[in-house]
Amino acid sequence: MVHPGSIVILDFGGQYAHLIASRVRRMGAYSEIRVAETSAKELKGAAGIILSGGPQSVYEQGSPQADPKILELGIPILGLCYGHQWLAQTMGGKVSPGKTKEYGHTMIERTGEPAIFQGLPKQFTVWMSHGDEVSALPKGFVTTASSKVCQFAAMADESRNIYGVQFHIEVTHTEHGMDILKKFVGICAPAPWGITSYADQVGAEIKKEVGDRKVFMLVSGGVDSTVAFTLLNKVLGAERVQGLLVDTGLMRKGEIKQIESAFRPLKITNLHVEDASDEFFKNLEGIVDPEEKRKIIGKTFLDVQARVAARMGLSGSGPGSGWLLGQGTIYPDTIETGGTKHADHIKTHHNRVDAIQKMIEKGLVIEPLKELYKDEVRILGEELGLPHDLVWRHPFPGPGLGVRILCIQMSDEQMKSEKLKVKNDENISVPHVVLPIRSVGVQGDGRTYRHAIALFSHHPCTVTSEQKALATSIPNSNKDINRVLLCTSHDHPQEFHVSPASITRDRADLLREADAIVSDEVRSADLYSDIWQFPVVLLPFGAKKGNESIVLRPISSTDAMTANAFILDEGVLTKITKRILTLPGIDTIFLDLTNKPPGTIEWE
Ligand code: XMP
Repeated sequence: MVHPGSIVILDFGGQYAHLIASRVRRMGAYSEIRVAETSAKELKGAAGIILSGGPQSVYEQGSPQADPKILELGIPILGLCYGHQWLAQTMGGKVSPGKTKEYGHTMIERTGEPAIFQGLPKQFTVWMSHGDEVSALPKGFVTTASSKVCQFAAMADESRNIYGVQFHIEVTHTEHGMDILKKFVGICAPAPWGITSYADQVGAEIKKEVGDRKVFMLVSGGVDSTVAFTLLNKVLGAERVQGLLVDTGLMRKGEIKQIESAFRPLKITNLHVEDASDEFFKNLEGIVDPEEKRKIIGKTFLDVQARVAARMGLSGSGPGSGWLLGQGTIYPDTIETGGTKHADHIKTHHNRVDAIQKMIEKGLVIEPLKELYKDEVRILGEELGLPHDLVWRHPFPGPGLGVRILCIQMSDEQMKSEKLKVKNDENISVPHVVLPIRSVGVQGDGRTYRHAIALFSHHPCTVTSEQKALATSIPNSNKDINRVLLCTSHDHPQEFHVSPASITRDRADLLREADAIVSDEVRSADLYSDIWQFPVVLLPFGAKKGNESIVLRPISSTDAMTANAFILDEGVLTKITKRILTLPGIDTIFLDLTNKPPGTIEWE
């Protein structure tokens, strides 16, 4: 069953289901996501339904279909894009391939004033992305907006509160998108939702779930587990909670101290910090392959946790042992959306691996944030008294700096012959060098592992539109390359020398310093909250033998699924470059200009 009074988003596989749900919540209404096929019976009690977009054609065999009985529930329904087409087809209208596909900004003209368009201008710009279109309206519907190429860009049957729009109201490119959503939410009269006083709202539930047991919580240093641990402390009291923070040696500068000192004023002292950095560095010695590094980091984590838990007398958190495992899982981690349901490669979140899943089924795991979105977790964190800077920190991957310290086995000489395998770079017209390192990227549904290319210019800290265009066109036309960088430390191509290297404490310390410089400059320039994430990466080669390089990877994104390179201005880029070049052993700096796809946010 759904939460009574919630607005349910039925997900047809588009990328925006979470975006719609979190926007509805920000309007003060409870929302949740369900797979497209959810039965009408299960949806009873919802205040309204939003049908999402999706990549398929509604008339195609095997395309996702909702239960037609939802149309008889008597609650307001809004279809977006695929959802609009599904409504038209299911209610007796027609959907066919459009004569002209419409992608991007499009002007529409209202032909009526249904409740969801009330007060809007006659014409406004919307974001379209469709090949199919509604070609005949179902009975009872009227056209409410048209574009030049799409006659039925919006339709409504106001007597039943059913609305369809061909465009995406949830993206910021659509003018008045939020006004339309707000009007729809108002029509639904949903259950109110707010994050304020959440601790009081869920306190009783947490107490009931835990009963007379205690909770063992793994605090990773990330925002979610830190907030979950704080919430459990507040609700259950310190004597019934024990936290463990493992120092892997791969965290950011001062991170552990920052967490400890955030807890101090809250009188939270039940966090044990285990310094296992020697063990992590030892296990990573000589390891180069990105996947192998990840696996070793994951396994070392589990070994350390098991050992410490045993030492604390918390092992065997089986039934009757008196202990539950606490996790900082948040809502998007738990929801199988249309996008993941129909995808070939389902990424299992680390909070949902088999062993944990079995414990969840036995009722041995408590996840107090599993109803919340990230921004809600952050607001709750502040409400619980955690410092603003800590709860609004950029996302940081579980394996930490481990995926930002690139490693290489080959000698300089071997690498030179490897470099020759990169073909087709002669058609790139600006000065460039193919770099002696490969990184992970993404293309279609698959991952790539290819070389990066660096561009050089006489104004090395100024990003031009030509360079931005090359960041897209080079990976498109060179199958050996998936990343395009701008060298900000040199104005003409260099010969680079690799030094075989794996992850060591010295390299982690060096990267930590570079990362701290970047954070410092970005905060001083007041850019921290404009940038989604800013990985800083260490590469095992330099212009001088034995030296290393640093890559700056600022990006903007809304959900990390896709991302654009964030363009830093010349002043900030120059300052960061100069300061990092003062670190001993670093002689080259690059700025990563690659969007995702074809790059990923992280390099490994
Ligand atoms: P990519 O590199 O795939 O990253 O574009 C997308 C987002 O996921 C984060 N990331 C991770 N987070 N464990 C995590 O907890 C991981 O192994 C991991 N790898 C990538 C990355 O920082 C970005 O926010």
